[in-house]
Amino acid sequence: MMLACWSAKGGSGTTVVAAALACALATTSPGGSLLADLAGDADAVLGCPPPAGGGLAAWLSSPAAPDATSLGRAEVDAGGGVRLLPRGHGALDSRHGALLAALLEADGRPVVVDCGTLGPGEAPPEVAAELAGGASRSLLVLRPCFLALRHAVMTPLRPAGVVLLAEPGRALTARDVAAVLGVPVLCEVPVEPGVARAVDAGLLASRLPRSLSRALRPLAEAA
Ligand SMILES: Nc1ncnc2c1ncn2[C@@H]1O[C@H](COP(=O)(O)OP(=O)(O)OP(=O)(O)O)[C@@H](O)[C@H]1O
Ligand SMILES: [Mg+2]
Repeated sequence: MMLACWSAKGGSGTTVVAAALACALATTSPGGSLLADLAGDADAVLGCPPPAGGGLAAWLSSPAAPDATSLGRAEVDAGGGVRLLPRGHGALDSRHGALLAALLEADGRPVVVDCGTLGPGEAPPEVAAELAGGASRSLLVLRPCFLALRHAVMTPLRPAGVVLLAEPGRALTARDVAAVLGVPVLCEVPVEPGVARAVDAGLLASRLPRSLSRALRPLAEAA
């Protein structure tokens, strides 16, 4: 099962949701979980050192036909049962995008992909849009604000559901978001200083805030 997290506007909380989801899934899956990072911040959010190898960028641009074995070699241990495929440096080539999607879908572990921002006016890597469009669960991470919702409406990609950041003081509700986008809000993630502090300290994998794991439980149980 591949869950692809993406946003229509930068700074929505996509990387935090993707990383926390991978951590939550790792606690219930005997083989742990895999987080594939196409956006570039997952190692920092999980508190991993910068990748020593070429990561996904190198795998995607491999001149020889890459395979599952070489993809496995690109994984690093992120702690808490999460294995990370770091983005690495350089552009994300699309030539092996379909193979990457197939390998991730076929992986025995639950797989979370951080596809980054795919909104209108962005020029996202083709491979990120391909994974978000083809995933068994395509999840739009959204803050309940007018600008973010406007970007989501203008994005051609349709998610299976929305992960809503529950920010206090916002006028838009989950019901408004579901009505405008025509897809369900699958869970509401609290926006709390404790989550931001855990992210800043690189402690998400080792000490996932309970409020986050509780909020993401419906998604983790459905995976
Ligand atoms: N649930 C939360 N509670 C508090 N702060 C949060 C939460 N989720 C994200 N943040 C903070 O919001 C900021 C943006 O989060 P994040 O990097 O996950 O967004 P993003 O959508 O991946 O951004 P980008 O477009 O740069 O990839 C970070 O500083 C993070 O610590
Ligand atoms: Mg990000």
